[in-house]
Amino acid sequence: ADALKVGIAGLGTVGASLVRIIGARAKELSITCGRAIEITAVSARDRSRDRGVDLSGITWFDTPDAMAQEADIDVFVELIGGAEGAADTSVRAALRRGLHVVTANKALLARHGMEFAALAEDKGVLLNFEAAVAGGIPVIKALRESLTGNKVSRVYGIMNGTCNYILTRMEKEGLTFEDCLKEAQRLGYAEADPAFDIEGNDTAHKLAILTTLAFGTQIAADQIYLEGISNISIEDIGAAADLGYRIKLLGVAQRTESGIEQRVHPTMVPRDSVIAQVDGVTNAVAIESDILGELLMVGPGAGGDATASAVLGDIADIAKSRPGEQRVPVLGTPAKALAPYVRAR
Ligand code: NDP
Ligand code: HSE
Repeated sequence: ADALKVGIAGLGTVGASLVRIIGARAKELSITCGRAIEITAVSARDRSRDRGVDLSGITWFDTPDAMAQEADIDVFVELIGGAEGAADTSVRAALRRGLHVVTANKALLARHGMEFAALAEDKGVLLNFEAAVAGGIPVIKALRESLTGNKVSRVYGIMNGTCNYILTRMEKEGLTFEDCLKEAQRLGYAEADPAFDIEGNDTAHKLAILTTLAFGTQIAADQIYLEGISNISIEDIGAAADLGYRIKLLGVAQRTESGIEQRVHPTMVPRDSVIAQVDGVTNAVAIESDILGELLMVGPGAGGDATASAVLGDIADIAKSRPGEQRVPVLGTPAKALAPYVRAR
């Protein structure tokens, strides 16, 4: 079969990892997928920047929009970030052109996910986004595919690696909030604007996506009670520890009799609970449903390689699929059939 041609927009922490991994695993991927995966186009802001990866033989595009419109590619991979601007316009252009799209951008999906899902379904292409929630943990596939038929009552967890890294190091090593945040940025965990991490917005974007997949309702990122960790002090953490608790930033969505409740806030969790043991950049997502029962998924929540692993899995799914094959609805339920979101009273 012909190689799957991939264009990557954004060559930062995640994009550069992805280029390196696809290069290093080319042979294994072509065997697993039944066809080669070939990067034929890339785009970022600064062409002269050394990214530590080999881009020779790959066509450079000065803008993601130009790549989406003109490149010789089957899949457009968006690793730029942000709900508006280049990520929005290029993904839109790629879908309109009938390209498959893979993205790690939860802010974009929280804002435009409904529209993009409908567009992808109209065009008969895939829009995959496993990396957008909880980094390398395959929680999208779990909710979208494996749990089909289950009635989910609650989904919750630690969904931001930066915040969990900060809280862990403050508690275990007595470091300051600012030093921990700087280190999370250096390690490539934080968003371009880390306010999205520490004020809880990033967790809210991820929760809104999980809510849609779990409950079959329209994305409602603006209906989330939101409180971040920027006001948490070492004294707060110590006081919680004295009482037998640890502080975690949790996202929680649950079905109630009057609608769906979604909230993001620092939470005191009993020290002996499984979720309290989740440290550092690790994330954890719990899903409670009627047929399966309780599922807990724990794993790397951020970082170049962990995230690129999920992006690569999404690309491989496209490589393994054939045109015209039955597609999984982007948001688990066809976009047109998603129920209106009703907020719990
Ligand atoms: P980075 O900031 O490291 O990289 C962003 C890349 O996008 C850079 O290469 C940058 O170009 C490029 N870029 C930014 N603006 C433009 C523009 N207007 N036109 C063209 N290129 C542009 O981000 P990350 O790799 O960390 O994150 C990428 C996406 O993945 C985001 O949506 C993020 O939320 C998501 N994500 C990140 C995770 C992580 O652990 N880092 C985990 C899960 C998801 P240049 O290099 O030239 O400046
Ligand atoms: N900034 C995000 C985090 C990246 O720290 O979890 C992964 O989505």
